[in-house]
This record gives sequence, structure tokens and C-alpha cells, in this order.
Amino acid sequence: MKFLVLNGVNLNLTGRREKGVYGAETLDAINAELLAFCKEHGHTADFAQTNFEGELCEKLHAATGKYDGIVLNAGAFTHYSYAIRDAIAAIDVPVVEVHMSNVHAREEFRHTSVLTEVCTGEVLGFGKNSYKLALESFWL
Ligand code: DQA
Repeated sequence: MKFLVLNGVNLNLTGRREKGVYGAETLDAINAELLAFCKEHGHTADFAQTNFEGELCEKLHAATGKYDGIVLNAGAFTHYSYAIRDAIAAIDVPVVEVHMSNVHAREEFRHTSVLTEVCTGEVLGFGKNSYKLALESFWL
């Protein structure tokens, strides 16, 4: 299978921002590990990140027919972007929502996701392993 690992706003700063929350590894390092993980299991993946809401929607639109599944960490967009929610609902590719941190143990505004309802499932709180568990959900 072929997956798209899609990261939203501020995730490009992973490894440099709030290391106590998101760890010290860069997004590139995490993505390299995720690609190796996919390959170990006979799959492959593409990776993308954007800080722009409309661009994230376009990347979701473009995924139709190209991927078997999408692992999405939309960052703060998660909590308020109806545009991203509608983009997920508009495509046929299953999307698993991911968060590295346990958003429910953090500020109140992070307790709400406007995306979960249109996603296949959600994995959160396991750092970079949240992405691995989400990928694994497609082949288990
Ligand atoms: C995050 C959690 C969000 O609340 C936050 O805005 C992020 C990262 C996570 O991976 O834990 O940017 O999605």
C-alpha cells in the first residue's frame, strides 16, 4: 500500500519548538523513520507539510486515487478548520488523525477536534509513535 503522511501548521518546527512536548527529533528524521517502517512492512509512503490551510486542502484533494490511506497531523488546524474537515469528507481516501501530544491533557481549546468525526480513527499521545500506530492501522 501507499500512504501519505501529511503535516499541517508549525509541524515543520518539530525538534526545535517545545521539545518537552514534541521531542527533539526533526520532522525530516521522523519521516525517514516512518518511511523505513513502511518499507519493513512492504509498503511505501510520501510525505508533505504545509503551514497553509488551503494548501493542506489541496493536498487532500490531490490524494484521491493516489493513496490507500492518509495519516494527518493537522496541528492547530485540527481545532477549528471546517475547510480541512470538508476536504477530508470530500475524498475517498481514509484519513487517520494523529497528534504527538496527548491533547486532552493540555489546554482546553485542544480538547476539541473538528476533524475526528470525518476520520477513520485517531491516535494521540505517543510522540512520533502516534504516526507509526496510525500507519499500522491500515495493514493490521
Ligand atoms: C499537535 C497538537 C495540536 O494541538 C498543536 O496545535 C500542534 C501539534 C500534536 O501533534 O500534538 O501543532 O497536533
